[in-house]
Amino acid sequence: MHALNGNELGPQRAKTSSGYAECMLTKWLKDHKPRAAAMKDQPAFYRNLEQAMDISRADPSFHGFHVAKPRWDDSVLDFTSSDFLSFSRSGRIREVFFEELGRHENFRLSASGSRVQYGNYDYLIQVEQEIADFHGAEAAYIAHSGFMANAGTVAAVPLPGDAIVYDDAVHASTHEGMKLSLASHQLSFRHNDADSLREVLSSLKGSHTAFASGSSSILIAVESVYSMDGDICPLNELVQVAKELFPLGNAQFIIDEAHSGGVIGPRGAGLVNMLGLEKEMAIRIHMCSKALGSTGGK
Ligand SMILES: Cc1ncc(COP(=O)(O)O)c(C=O)c1O
Repeated sequence: MHALNGNELGPQRAKTSSGYAECMLTKWLKDHKPRAAAMKDQPAFYRNLEQAMDISRADPSFHGFHVAKPRWDDSVLDFTSSDFLSFSRSGRIREVFFEELGRHENFRLSASGSRVQYGNYDYLIQVEQEIADFHGAEAAYIAHSGFMANAGTVAAVPLPGDAIVYDDAVHASTHEGMKLSLASHQLSFRHNDADSLREVLSSLKGSHTAFASGSSSILIAVESVYSMDGDICPLNELVQVAKELFPLGNAQFIIDEAHSGGVIGPRGAGLVNMLGLEKEMAIRIHMCSKALGSTGGK
């Protein structure tokens, strides 16, 4: 690999891979020097921020924005980003964006307000319907990012008295949602392990009559393709466990399809579609930021 993009390294601009590596190393070392100690006379606001950053700087695996910023240029193969199908780097998304904009003269790029307050448009409603039809779902909702779609849904859906049961490898966005959630119980099960899910669900059922009687709900959070290891959820097995233990249907799934959308199943519609489990999933979260080469969640 060569011809790396050193444009963002300023005067140290690199033209070759070894030059690039040298620049990166110099920058990395600079970025990892602790700073708080030299800021005794600075306002506590900035000093405390640097102190918190120093903890990360001491960690060799730390990649701050400045370290991570330079990117490969387009002359090398991309095996690292989420632009799995190269829709973004090929310019195809840009092209279809302008084609679509051209077809809708009155389309406004401003939200003009939140969806509940002047920010709702027929166009958005139509697109959401198209998305729902594509995925064989009842309805769809577009969010600003996949992170927000996950965090917002996990935060909003479970009610007091309910439980969230999650695979212990779910994405940070699900964890953020759980921090905001009013759910009374949050329990993890071992990654991709149907027996562990069974144990956790059985313990909830055994210890709270509201779950056994079907009056409180359990939201089970999983991912189609796990973002860290790339392994696939044994969804059929997990669904069987939930249905067997909760035949009244009060244990339902939310599945994050970030890394399956566009790459798994017919038309890239994701794992749920491939397995024909649409009716078994209460909520599916798809991202526009991965294979679709754009941004947003739905
Ligand atoms: C599994 C998973 N869920 C959610 C997200 C967040 O998606 P977005 O980048 O669209 O906010 C990511 C992003 O990396 C992800 O890998």
